[in-house]
Amino acid sequence: MQKNKHDEITSRRTFAIISHPDAGKTTITEKLLYFGGAIRDAGTVKGKKSGKFATSDWMEIEKQRGISVTSSVLQFDYAGKRVNILDTPGHEDFSEDTYRTLMAVDAAVMMVDSAKGIEPQTIKLFKVCKMRGIPIFTFINKMDRQGKEPLELMEELEEVLEIQSYAMNWPIGMGKEFLGIYDRFNKRIELARPNADEDRFLPIDGEGELAVEHSMKETSYYKQALEDVMLLNEAGNDFDEDRIAKGELTPVFFGSALTNFGVQTFLETFLQFAPEPQPRLTKDAEYVDPESDVFSGFIFKIQANMNPAHRDRIAFVRIVSGEFERGMTVTVPRLSKNFKLTQTTQFLADDRETVNQAVAGDIIGLYDTGNYQIGDTVISGKANFQFEALPQFTPELFVRVNAKNVMKSKQFHKGILQLVQEGAIQYYKTLHTEEVILGAVGQLQFEVFEHRMRAEYHVEVQMETMGSKVARWIENEEDVKESMAGQRALLVKDRYERKVFLFENNFAMRWFQDKFPDIKLYNQL
Ligand code: G4P
Repeated sequence: MQKNKHDEITSRRTFAIISHPDAGKTTITEKLLYFGGAIRDAGTVKGKKSGKFATSDWMEIEKQRGISVTSSVLQFDYAGKRVNILDTPGHEDFSEDTYRTLMAVDAAVMMVDSAKGIEPQTIKLFKVCKMRGIPIFTFINKMDRQGKEPLELMEELEEVLEIQSYAMNWPIGMGKEFLGIYDRFNKRIELARPNADEDRFLPIDGEGELAVEHSMKETSYYKQALEDVMLLNEAGNDFDEDRIAKGELTPVFFGSALTNFGVQTFLETFLQFAPEPQPRLTKDAEYVDPESDVFSGFIFKIQANMNPAHRDRIAFVRIVSGEFERGMTVTVPRLSKNFKLTQTTQFLADDRETVNQAVAGDIIGLYDTGNYQIGDTVISGKANFQFEALPQFTPELFVRVNAKNVMKSKQFHKGILQLVQEGAIQYYKTLHTEEVILGAVGQLQFEVFEHRMRAEYHVEVQMETMGSKVARWIENEEDVKESMAGQRALLVKDRYERKVFLFENNFAMRWFQDKFPDIKLYNQL
């Protein structure tokens, strides 16, 4: 039976998994797909290290390095919900794409390695989610290994990320002695290794203790878990759905993705509280309701050369409202131009398939011949509005770049312009000599840039690394004098002709601020 539009839209759950490399994002994604029936065996999505399952031939770089360069979208159905996971690159060399993907989700799952705690990349990605005020669900992984004490991890969450937490469940032991979890939310104990004749779930009585006879009761791990849970009940935060929805309180789950323990419980609880597709603000500060009759969406990512044989380019659209139907005509208000959407793709595991229908919350890929830009709004009918611009992210790494062959200068500039418009890289130039400087949040962006300049624009580029810099924009540009710049504070312009200081490091920035306190510096995201 076909669902109506309302049911379709409200069944969507669109989220991303954020984590530091190796926390277990790929592993849990596989398990989630497995529960959703999207793959038959958990463990077949991608073998990034072995390269065994390198089904994606999107870019040579992907193949050479055995990593996924850009985020893909995975979709599956579970318990009446249609789940869209926007995967983010599982590598240290993440890029602006990773950040932008977080602009297209309604919730985030934060994976934490129980032995390592909160790691640097998690902090960066968390900040973007926090800025958006989206709900963040925490999964503390690898409980089958010896890790930090659970209470210590909870404290770390609150101290490092400054977010309050609510433990949905609590581990009973860890590593070899991991007996299971005390599920506060579902009021049961889930056994890690039930005997053949034993139920996986054991009930908890009114006092909060195991209601049945079990050998676990005598263990110090059970007693400790019980003590911790009592402490949380008394002194911890209260469960508060509203605060979860606002991203002020993160529900915390413990488990082990590898041994598939606690993942299904997590998925079920997550789906219960993760938001359905949310309204989105336009530039005129009006909200577009997901159930509006107008089809609307925005482009959060453009990926080129997904298939080198076709040299195609795909613009990823997060649908904000209404329903997409193949063959419909849409407008891009920035261009005041209509497009008939006949070729669209949707993404299931690693197979691209054609989509005929999609609704608010879904992600579709539009074939692009160079028309679209990151941040573009697409809408149907006579509607005419644009969604709020996507934020610009502060790059941290910089290179000076030029064409190896000066005869190729025209192609060089054309290529840079297009790649900058696409959002692949950020553009800066020195004030008088107009040398090109590129900025990125991750090293990989430079490699992709170099590769694409060669493959698509036939230009060999020369890149001279400038290392990491602290970029700061200036509120009162008119007060800036060129004499304020120097070796440790390079003055450049960005693609919008705004002046930017590139400081050698934080120390150089503070020194500058002490010396010129009237110059008001600010940071992008
Ligand atoms: P990522 O996508 O976040 O980078 O992490 P990924 O899932 O690839 O996991 C990183 C490593 O951690 C992998 O091991 C994986 O098997 C392991 N891992 C993930 N979840 C768990 C868990 O719950 N418990 C334990 N003990 N290990 C876990 P690897 O040996 O580095 O890679 P591989 O050779 O197994 O692919």
